[in-house]
Amino acid sequence: MIELQTSLLDNMIGVGDMVLLEPLSENSFIQNLKNRFDHDEIYTYIGTVVISINPYQSLPIYTADKVEEYRNRNFYELNPHIYALADEAYRSLRDQDKDQCILITGESGAGKTEASKLVMSYVAAVCGKGQEVNKVKEQLLQSNPVLEAFGNAKTVRNDNSSRFGKYMDIEFDFKGDPLGGVISNYLLEKSRVVKQPRGERNFHIFYQLLSGASDDLLKRLKLERDVSKYNYLSLDSAVVSDLDDGANFRIIMDAMKTVCFMDNEVQSVLELVAAVMKLGNIEFKSESRVNGFDESRVEDNNDLKEICELLGIEQIVLERAFSSRTLEAKQEKVSTTLNVAQAYYARDALAKNLYSRLFSWLVTRINESIKVHWLFSKKVMGVLDIYGFEIFENNSFEQFIINYCNEKLQQIFIDLTLHEEQEEYIREGIEWKNIEYFNNAVICDLIENNNKGILAMLDDECLRPGTVTDETFLDKLNTVCAGHHHFESRHCTNSQFLTDHTLPHNCFRIQHYAGKVLYCVEGFVDKNNDLLYRDLSQAMYKARHPLIKLLFPEGDPSKMNLKRPPTAGFQFRASVGTLMKNLQTKNPNYIRCIKPNDKKAARIFTETLVRHQVRYLGLMENVRVRRAGYAFRQLYKPCLERYKMLCQQTWPHWRGPAREGVEMLLNSLQVPKEEFCYGCSKIFIRNPKTLFALEKKRRECLEVLAAVIQKIYRGWKQRKHFLLMKKSQVVVAAWYRRYSQQKKFQKIRICAIIVQSLIRRWKVGSLKDKVDIFRIGGAVVQWIQKYFLDLKKKIPSMSPIDKTWPPQPYQFLEGTHKELGRIFHLWRCKKYRDQFTEQKKAIYEEKLDASTIFKDKKALYPGSVSQPFKGDYLEINQNPKYSKLKGLLEEKVILADVVHKINRANGKGTARLFLLTKKHFVLADLKSVQIKATVPLPDLASVAVSSQSDGFFALKIKEGSASAAKGDFLLSSERLIEIITKLLRAGTHTAERSEINVDISDE
Ligand SMILES: Nc1ncnc2c1ncn2[C@@H]1O[C@H](COP(=O)(O)OP(=O)(O)O)[C@@H](O)[C@H]1O
Ligand SMILES: [Mg+2]
Repeated sequence: MIELQTSLLDNMIGVGDMVLLEPLSENSFIQNLKNRFDHDEIYTYIGTVVISINPYQSLPIYTADKVEEYRNRNFYELNPHIYALADEAYRSLRDQDKDQCILITGESGAGKTEASKLVMSYVAAVCGKGQEVNKVKEQLLQSNPVLEAFGNAKTVRNDNSSRFGKYMDIEFDFKGDPLGGVISNYLLEKSRVVKQPRGERNFHIFYQLLSGASDDLLKRLKLERDVSKYNYLSLDSAVVSDLDDGANFRIIMDAMKTVCFMDNEVQSVLELVAAVMKLGNIEFKSESRVNGFDESRVEDNNDLKEICELLGIEQIVLERAFSSRTLEAKQEKVSTTLNVAQAYYARDALAKNLYSRLFSWLVTRINESIKVHWLFSKKVMGVLDIYGFEIFENNSFEQFIINYCNEKLQQIFIDLTLHEEQEEYIREGIEWKNIEYFNNAVICDLIENNNKGILAMLDDECLRPGTVTDETFLDKLNTVCAGHHHFESRHCTNSQFLTDHTLPHNCFRIQHYAGKVLYCVEGFVDKNNDLLYRDLSQAMYKARHPLIKLLFPEGDPSKMNLKRPPTAGFQFRASVGTLMKNLQTKNPNYIRCIKPNDKKAARIFTETLVRHQVRYLGLMENVRVRRAGYAFRQLYKPCLERYKMLCQQTWPHWRGPAREGVEMLLNSLQVPKEEFCYGCSKIFIRNPKTLFALEKKRRECLEVLAAVIQKIYRGWKQRKHFLLMKKSQVVVAAWYRRYSQQKKFQKIRICAIIVQSLIRRWKVGSLKDKVDIFRIGGAVVQWIQKYFLDLKKKIPSMSPIDKTWPPQPYQFLEGTHKELGRIFHLWRCKKYRDQFTEQKKAIYEEKLDASTIFKDKKALYPGSVSQPFKGDYLEINQNPKYSKLKGLLEEKVILADVVHKINRANGKGTARLFLLTKKHFVLADLKSVQIKATVPLPDLASVAVSSQSDGFFALKIKEGSASAAKGDFLLSSERLIEIITKLLRAGTHTAERSEINVDISDE
């Protein structure tokens, strides 16, 4: 069995991959999420899909260290993390050339935008470095705050809710370095500019500008710092805790610089923002006209005047545009007056259009900065962060559009994961148990069907002649959509909901995949029409302000177009269609965001809320499909290419069909049969574990292969070097030999020539020549003779210590002269030695011994050198007094003398006879000649003397010997040197001398 260490299996809180959850039920699923969430584990996998739960607190899991940890690691190797998904996507983009898209879904406030930023920052951190690359990265990342300032707002769901959809393609070169990108934006919720639901705010930029701009800037923009001065800005939630508008304003200004906005561009943008804000303050009053109609008039001209100054518009033009409107049909112009309500409508329409066009321009402008000027093939990573599914108390056209978009995203998710997965198994001929899941294609159809879809109905109504109202639109829906299972309305023709009081008369309800949403039709027609009176767009086009002019190209009278512009719904449907097509060409990576509670609070996990999201996101089905299926699949050929080094038969080349190669490979690796399945074109691997085991083996094998390659290369390199050296050596040797032989040859040649010439001369020459030849030889002989004779005269003395030797007379005899000196010295030393008798030799030997023992060690020694060692001082043989002793001693006496034995008790000496033979030393009484002690020499352990000039010496007896009973002897004698030398010499003959030590100490 293949064992694999993955942290996905070890040390995990709950289960990291829902595919491994046992038993699998909705309850256990949610319990697992909760368990992990309670331990701050906000990420969990379903196979390759990442579930992310908004922690509503900053967790320490996005550090640079974490980035390093996840970099180049297998998806399942570490704790589930959004970085793992980002890494996987980036690597398969870089290494396998697959375009990627990151699809982030979830409801508003679930953490989609944060997730998209985390993915981007991760990719920025791991991709290439360098000045140019860093600049690109910085621009890509800094585009975020700019767009967020203009496109995000505080809602009841989220303090930083994206009010536009965003899809960003990041483009890379073949090395994986970022080159730039393209941003697409989808339908900004522009109604927010003029009105915000209770508890919500307008877009951030308004508040940021008012609190962050300098006094000077505000003055130039003709603004006042007080938020309450502006009708368009909601007051009840102008201040959001945790949001520092002033500081953010400066961040945004810096970010705009980074993204290469010019100073004058920034100025223009701020002027437009100011103009929008001031537009809200224009009030109208009605004035009766002679024709009986009421006409609206601007009440207080000051704001209008300032707006016109800001934008460079003639006041009268704008004023007129607010009080009348020109209708044009077939070259006929009709002017009608506007009543007050129409004037307000026109004002708001202008504000909304100004702002949303400004926003689109910002996106275009950013795109210009981050555009890739690269013609070669690029790889793309798309990040989609689109507004999440929304259900408010009051849902209007915007929510309808937003939710439609989410339906489409769900559709693509179903398509690519569930549907596609099942389809693939069928295609590949793999046995497959069908998994039931809800396919929301019917809901998409309800909305976008070309003939009967809600959007098509709306367009029909908007374009229809006659009176068109929201009510007529609803009537139409009631007839056309009545039969649809996901459509509910009070007045449906089948009247199923007639008594449903939760369904107001002016509303319809759609059963979205994510729940039922009640839409109020009020404003649908207007918002879809998105009408801006032509007089206003023309007024804007006439402005001297360069940016405004650019934003209203349709105001150009020369390019006037009588055709209606496409409706908002139509445009949106088209752009969503393009987006879906784009996403389908890429390899999808899913992040499914879940919101744990409605309070934007940390650590609260509301089970019902999560259960609802788990259901509509289809996560359970996702797990089931995963579990029923195979975790990994790959075409046979790339699979074989990747792992062929793991089997002898497939390495380095497999000649047969790829499928057979893979079979051979898996069989030889003994992967259990149930772990894989052979499809028509792909191999399916059931468990990630098996895949990682293969990957691990591959990595190990690659290391070995790398070592083999290295080895062979090194061997080759060294051999090449060696061969070169060998060749060089042969050349050098050949040249040297040639040189030395040439030299030798020259010498021989010269000699030969001399000898030859002498011989020739000898042969042919006269007597005189012969004499000459002798003379040359003779001269040398003469010199040598002279040398020896001289040397004889100067020969030094025969004393071995004489170091002189006469100087050398001839250079050519240098070696001979030195050698003669050495031989002479050796010879005279020998002569000197030869004259010694045996006796004399012994005496000298004794003296030499004394010298080695005592020289430079005892002060008494120098005095002893000149005194001959007599040995028998008592003349034992001649003196009859000692005849008695002679009898006792069988051996020859080597030494006989009088010594003093020192009494240990009082230190006084008693005279004693000291006799030494080859085997013993003896102490005897001086008067009675009585033997006191006979000690065999082997019993003597050591002799101790001082270094001074005294005559004391101690004879130490070996412990445990027969003589030990008598104890050591402490004696004294003037002839200490002789006595001890002889004692030791005698000792050498009887026992090993080395055993008798002489201790000479300072005491
Ligand atoms: N990973 C996270 N870590 C910490 N806070 C987060 C995280 N994701 C989301 N949040 C918090 O939740 C808020 C809403 O997230 P956001 O991404 O704007 O939601 P969405 O885009 O889905 O509407 C953020 O402003 C942030 O305060
Ligand atoms: Mg968002």
